[in-house]
Amino acid sequence: MLEVSNLQKKYKKRLVLENISFQMKQGDIVGLVGENGAGKSTLLQLLATVMQPTQGEIVLDGLSYASDMKKIRRRIGYVPQELSIWDEFTVEENMRFFEKLSWKRRTKEECRQLCLDMQLTQWKEPVQSLSGGMKRKLNLVISLLHDPVLLLLDEPTVGIDLKSKTEIGSYLHSLAKKEGKMILYTSHDMDEITHICDRVYAIGKDPFYTNLLTEHNLIVEQLR
Ligand SMILES: Nc1ncnc2c1ncn2[C@@H]1O[C@H](COP(=O)(O)OP(=O)(O)O)[C@@H](O)[C@H]1O
Ligand SMILES: [Mg+2]
Repeated sequence: MLEVSNLQKKYKKRLVLENISFQMKQGDIVGLVGENGAGKSTLLQLLATVMQPTQGEIVLDGLSYASDMKKIRRRIGYVPQELSIWDEFTVEENMRFFEKLSWKRRTKEECRQLCLDMQLTQWKEPVQSLSGGMKRKLNLVISLLHDPVLLLLDEPTVGIDLKSKTEIGSYLHSLAKKEGKMILYTSHDMDEITHICDRVYAIGKDPFYTNLLTEHNLIVEQLR
């Protein structure tokens, strides 16, 4: 379970997030929406321990971010918007490389299977020859190597072909529902969000997103 209480983030004097409180439980897949600059990436970075909040508390499965950072990190998978994979190397080489850096040991077969589960089949191909969607899948698979309980994804489906997008969406949904992972991800695609999310958090001052999603009969919570 993830419990976020009264989170605040200031960059110097600039207040970006304020009074952010919510909870997620195992199996929840939640969309995070808001206009550009609303603070979506900032919130994900706080939850990913990349940055510290200026106020507030985060607790994951009873562990406090303030005092159990090391244990927390093992439980989190975070994929920032920019890809971080080796272009000149094959899918296999990337998986083997990141497996060595990972908290958890995985055999070559397990690495391969993780890719296949995501419908990423080009095991022997260099990353630079893959489509944007396939690269995105590889980046996601790498974040799953250590079997995190909380997955934080910053625009995992932006700018890729519809087939990859649909496959990624249904894979994320099954990770939540079959493996009980908690998934929080940002997207601008309302169709996708209505299909795969249990509920949606809207941040920022613009009521546009909240209104739009309410029209789609989705459960929307305005975080601020
Ligand atoms: N490292 C930073 N230093 C200062 N300001 C930042 C930094 N990162 C983001 N911001 C500002 O915080 C606000 C929220 O940014 P961000 O979290 O990236 O929003 P979103 O992902 O919703 O577009 C923006 O106004 C952005 O310019
Ligand atoms: Mg962002």
